[in-house]
Amino acid sequence: MKTTISNVKNHVGEQVTIGCWLANKRSSGKIAFLQLRDGTGFIQGVVEKSKVDEEIFKKAKQLTQESSLYVTGVVRVDERSPFGYELGVENIEIIHEASDYPITPKEHGTEFLMDNRHLWLRSKRQHAIMKVRNELIRATYEFFNDQGFVKVDPPILTGSAPEGTTELFHTKYFDEDAYLSQSGQLYMEAAAMALGKVFSFGPTFRAEKSKTRRHLIEFWMIEPEMAFYQFEDNLQLQEQYVSHIVQSVLKNCSLELKTLERDISKLEQVVPPFPKITYDDAIALLHKKGFNDIAWGDDFGSPHETAIAESFDKPVFITHYPTSLKPFYMQPDPNRPEVVLCADLIAPEGYGEIIGGSERIHDYHLLKKRLEEHHLDEAAYKWYLELRQYGSVPHSGFGLGLERTVAWICGIEHVRETIPFPRLLNRLYP
Ligand code: 4AD
Ligand code: MG
Repeated sequence: MKTTISNVKNHVGEQVTIGCWLANKRSSGKIAFLQLRDGTGFIQGVVEKSKVDEEIFKKAKQLTQESSLYVTGVVRVDERSPFGYELGVENIEIIHEASDYPITPKEHGTEFLMDNRHLWLRSKRQHAIMKVRNELIRATYEFFNDQGFVKVDPPILTGSAPEGTTELFHTKYFDEDAYLSQSGQLYMEAAAMALGKVFSFGPTFRAEKSKTRRHLIEFWMIEPEMAFYQFEDNLQLQEQYVSHIVQSVLKNCSLELKTLERDISKLEQVVPPFPKITYDDAIALLHKKGFNDIAWGDDFGSPHETAIAESFDKPVFITHYPTSLKPFYMQPDPNRPEVVLCADLIAPEGYGEIIGGSERIHDYHLLKKRLEEHHLDEAAYKWYLELRQYGSVPHSGFGLGLERTVAWICGIEHVRETIPFPRLLNRLYP
């Protein structure tokens, strides 16, 4: 019976055949332990000399790392392994023999591993991270579909720059100038006026010369946009959404979190409501913590975000940033126009900003004025302004960066491991 490692739990005591690869191996004169992987999981195959044909035992001892195989054996419960099962091997058929696989069980440097990313993805750790990433995507669709949102796909090739003009990838669009999308937000606002509550999930691009553990050149963003939602409604949705995806990973990826040695007690605390602190209070808090160099009007860097997050055991919203620090489309606070009705959500444990969001300007004249102040070409934003001419309503939205969220939930150091093929400042290969 052909099955997969993820399904062996349904075949205890039965003989099964699994198409797999040899991840690692250990053997002595009488027994060989094969670490097998098939994409769905990892299982140990035990080959005992006294129980198999001499030729099979010999084959097992000579197997090379990453050779592809059909392994046949009987599924047994194995209480010592976190996975819970092992395979008593009876037969091995080699499909393709690998030689000199470059990533051996010894330690390798990061650059070497990144050069071999196409193979590194096969490792147990990378497998666990990709499974968590997949669960976050699955739980995202589940959450928004359950809440009556419609998935909308904004374009990647655009003529506008929602997040400022300095970080754009420029390209030619036949005779016109075009940019790779920094954010689908402006298009999602149009979609919200058509469909009410919408969300997108897609790649976004930032030509940022940043080389930090939080920055990718190409990253994936989830961008919900909701008609008739004001500032507070937006925050409430965000805390529900983030809690849902964290709790889903805890429920459905316990083995992966164990592989990653993640301290899950910190994740278990991620339930609504999340703490909220204004930008003003954040500045005061930083001063109290000895950051005397920061003044009202300055943007926060990673050390500031980390210091603020340390005061809370859940993700924390920093609200009401100075208008001058934020993009043109954010709604100024009517009582205090020098700050905007926005919030960044800062993850705990030093992972920094995972969400940026705000209420959007819905007044035509104010938006036109803000475009001018930001020296943006009105012609390119004509359609966006028109959303304020035909039944404009208060609306809000946000963008969650998938890779930073994966890094936080997995508890890993750098976003480069959270996406299959990271695009970094000096890396386009593989
Ligand atoms: O704060 P940002 O720039 O917000 C926007 O793009 C809004 N238009 C979103 C919206 O309201 N629809 O980016 C949102 C999130 C950040 O909080 C961060 O998680 C992630 O996207 N992000 C990056 N992730 C990896 N590498 C980068 N270079 C990133 N830049 C932003
Ligand atoms: Mg931001």
